[in-house]
Amino acid sequence: MNSSITNSPEETAALGEAWAEEVAPGWTIALCGDLGMGKTQLVKGLARGLGITARIASPTFALVNEHTAGRVSLFHLDLYRLDTRAQIAGAGLDEYFFTPRGVTVVEWAERWWDEVQRSRFSVQSPGGRLRWVKFTSEGETQRRIEYEDFGS
Ligand SMILES: Nc1ncnc2c1ncn2[C@@H]1O[C@H](COP(=O)(O)OP(=O)(O)O)[C@@H](O)[C@H]1O
Ligand SMILES: [Mg+2]
Repeated sequence: MNSSITNSPEETAALGEAWAEEVAPGWTIALCGDLGMGKTQLVKGLARGLGITARIASPTFALVNEHTAGRVSLFHLDLYRLDTRAQIAGAGLDEYFFTPRGVTVVEWAERWWDEVQRSRFSVQSPGGRLRWVKFTSEGETQRRIEYEDFGS
């Protein structure tokens, strides 16, 4: 388990930007934590690190935003409005998980993988990796960001 504390939105973005150096197609980054924890901030940094210049906003209504102009394509999903796995699969969103087409980052990933499913989980696809990330608040401008990697 990797754990860090950030003290500002920019520090959270910088963490995402650093991750851009190691991500590869086939990765899915699952972001868990309440509203306002900094999930979208982290995605902004990740996109910046991948050379994506488009504005990053939670795809709350679109469900998925595709950014294909960077070094690696980034698929940004937000499951907040979807309550069940059937709704998520019905919207075709599970097709983005571990896709060889790029990196998928998922806000409200706990809507798809609960703790039990996550603990039994192994990534099957070649090159696939799940980065399981948990955000918690340690104060108004402090966030604890913990992650664990599963798969190749
Ligand atoms: N250390 C921090 N990291 C990230 N965001 C922070 C931090 N401290 C304060 N904030 C604020 O928390 C909010 C995070 O918003 P956002 O990234 O949209 O969260 P989420 O996508 O998790 O709902 C922003 O208003 C940001 O300014
Ligand atoms: Mg968000």
